[in-house]
Amino acid sequence: MFTAPRSDEIFTEQRLTPRRFQPDPAFREDVLNGLAQAGKAIPARWFYDMRGSQLFEAITQVPEYYPTRTETALLHGHAAAVAERLGADATVVEFGSGSSIKTRILLKALPRATYVPIDICGEFLDEACLALQGLFPALRIVPVEADFMNPVSLPLRREGRAMLGFFPGSTIGNLTPFAAVDLLRSMRETLGEQAHLLIGIDRVKDPARLVSAYDDAGGVTALFNLNLLQRINRELGGTIPVGEFRHVARWNEDASRIEMHLQARRAIRFEVAGQAFHMESGETIHTENCHKYRPGEIRLLLAASGWGEVEHWSDAGGDFSLVLAQGGGD
Ligand code: AVJ
Repeated sequence: MFTAPRSDEIFTEQRLTPRRFQPDPAFREDVLNGLAQAGKAIPARWFYDMRGSQLFEAITQVPEYYPTRTETALLHGHAAAVAERLGADATVVEFGSGSSIKTRILLKALPRATYVPIDICGEFLDEACLALQGLFPALRIVPVEADFMNPVSLPLRREGRAMLGFFPGSTIGNLTPFAAVDLLRSMRETLGEQAHLLIGIDRVKDPARLVSAYDDAGGVTALFNLNLLQRINRELGGTIPVGEFRHVARWNEDASRIEMHLQARRAIRFEVAGQAFHMESGETIHTENCHKYRPGEIRLLLAASGWGEVEHWSDAGGDFSLVLAQGGGD
């Protein structure tokens, strides 16, 4: 029911925020189902509330987290080559655009491009577009609010322009290889035949370095992981004793991935949305997978999805790959 605000409230900031916070029903469902499973797990996408997004930005600045720094340098080094191959009037479609600073590096080489950021968060999208338009006045921006995990129909006439999908950050690593192939295929469908894809993928390396990238000495990644429990308490009326959990990052050699877990320090009971749960001492909630690939595996992953490698750039140490691929005709 709508309740008229009291007159003394009208000019306060409260007027600008919703009166009652509506929890995302999909969040509630994922958390309740995930905690009811034998192996407790919650999808990584729920990390990114406001505080989670800020903490992820902080992670990209910690010394142990090499991917952002390495990929940024690769983009600086190769954006011009990408622009040259695609042409100045290309359309750049970014999957999960967020507020990325990396997009600016690419668009600096393509200032007259059409830019289509796809993101599920419309509010975030509008803000990011506004900032970008200020930086690139000649850029034509066509934001699309959608979940890029499904094929997206783009509100564009193709007009024979070259299409470039952009998927940086090794976000593909959050998916199992099966799901990654599905997503890469659906991107091909979204972008059309002959389109290009510029994708960042993190590489297999010394497990000790991988683990420390996801368990930094300053504890920022721990805060990022634990914030998920705070978000559950806040948005879903949870009573989770956050202090009784520890952040765990481990290398799963068989699956070639870093796993993040939240581990109960002792046996605990709590409620979420009125439902009761318990955990044994040492039991974990699996919160994220970050798959790592070798160069040949990257080539195969792309090929299995209908993408052929055009360029495969990497840093001298082989820590991270930036790959330009092209889809063939069917
Ligand atoms: C945003 C998914 C690429 O897997 O490296 C960073 C997320 N999690 N530290 C990654 C993350 C913990 C990040 N991605």
